[in-house]
Amino acid sequence: MAAELVVMGLGHVGLPLSRAAVSAGLATAGYDVSRPVVDGLTGGRSHVGGVGDTDVAAMLRAGFHATDDPAVLEGAQTVVICVPTGLTGAGLPDLSAVEDAATAVAARLHPGMLVVLESTSYPGTTEDVVRPLLERGSGLRAGEDFHLAYSPQRIDPGNPTWDVRNTPKIVSGRTALCAKHAVAFYSRFVDQLVVARGTREAEMAKLLENTYRYVNIALVDEVALFCHETGIDIWDVLHCAASKPFGFAPFSPGPGVGGHCIPVDPRYLAARAESQGFAFRTLAAAQDVLSRMPDHVVERALTILTGTAGRPEGATALLLGVTYKPDVADIRETPARQVAAGLLAAGVEVSYHDPYVPEFTVGGAPLPRTENLRDALDRADVAILLQDHACYARETLGQARCALLDTRGKAVGSRVTLL
Ligand SMILES: NC(=O)c1ccc[n+]([C@@H]2O[C@H](COP(=O)([O-])OP(=O)(O)OC[C@H]3O[C@@H](n4cnc5c(N)ncnc54)[C@H](O)[C@@H]3O)[C@@H](O)[C@H]2O)c1
Repeated sequence: MAAELVVMGLGHVGLPLSRAAVSAGLATAGYDVSRPVVDGLTGGRSHVGGVGDTDVAAMLRAGFHATDDPAVLEGAQTVVICVPTGLTGAGLPDLSAVEDAATAVAARLHPGMLVVLESTSYPGTTEDVVRPLLERGSGLRAGEDFHLAYSPQRIDPGNPTWDVRNTPKIVSGRTALCAKHAVAFYSRFVDQLVVARGTREAEMAKLLENTYRYVNIALVDEVALFCHETGIDIWDVLHCAASKPFGFAPFSPGPGVGGHCIPVDPRYLAARAESQGFAFRTLAAAQDVLSRMPDHVVERALTILTGTAGRPEGATALLLGVTYKPDVADIRETPARQVAAGLLAAGVEVSYHDPYVPEFTVGGAPLPRTENLRDALDRADVAILLQDHACYARETLGQARCALLDTRGKAVGSRVTLL
């Protein structure tokens, strides 16, 4: 029997979306080009933080199945595309997965089908990239024969409060009727929908949200650099500023940004703007500051090692938390890799502690991992708190026998140096 919904791409976005749809009673199937992903899910194993094996088991019991056979798209009422939108080697938008997904749908498109793109991309992707592929491959017309929509995903992996259901969702359609069909679909498992004027507005809104974070993190990072130069306590500055109840949203400095979204999405905006003869100056400035942060951490650590161990060469550094955000297992684009590489290049012996990351490679070689935190804090010449996982208790950090470089403003103690 044909699925009501086929989710294309069963990763950090597609799997939670599938779970939400299955919970709402939609007959859902998942399509993914990765055999290990399909086999894992079929075997009841989740590869996505925030979705447990028990969730996958419940989904399978409710009739969900994952496959790498595009025939599953045949007869589906709705197809939602949640495939990756990364960057090419040259740092430009890579829409190849979106194009592949749209081509696969086009071959099975039928009148009345709703096709939604959820992947993050620049304004015009739905209309100028996805629509032509769907129309050419099917001979059908978007907005006339089938419905085409864009609805960006806001999922925040590891967030215990906001999930697919209770996070307001932007929805847009090629035509008013397309938007209406998309609203009818999402209202089955999302509490609040916000209808954008068109797909370009919805695409731009998503890029604005993530670029807002990018630029503001760069701002506090640069303020932190200035404060360090001039002997001002950045963490006290932030504490004071955050007390303003209006007109100020707090952001924290750190070793740089990571993940699949924040460092990547602004590149989509900048590249699109460039191709249209528009220079996004705030983005260029933010990128410049953010790209310097891992090296700043390395420099600060080397200075500490020169003080404690005499010289950095042969000294030992312990990285605490190598994921790009706290209490998740995701190491995509993590700045920890650049920090580790910089320390290794300076002759420092680097190891790491991270309960979420069983293996962490830098320059193709695995970094030594330690499990016993207290032991490791006693042995290292310097520990660098890169990620604020809950397991790094303030007391444990403050009592460390080694010097501690804290990039998260968490620890207090005589051996602690704040970013
Ligand atoms: N991760 C997040 O927190 C997040 C949040 C909001 C939006 N997004 C956006 O959502 C999109 C998906 O991101 P993600 O984090 O889920 O990626 P992901 O890498 O976790 O998962 C993507 C999945 O798509 C599969 N895939 C690749 N090409 C495919 C194809 N042609 N057909 C079917 N499956 C294919 C991959 O095998 C993978 O399993 C991206 O555009 C991303 O920017 C991500």
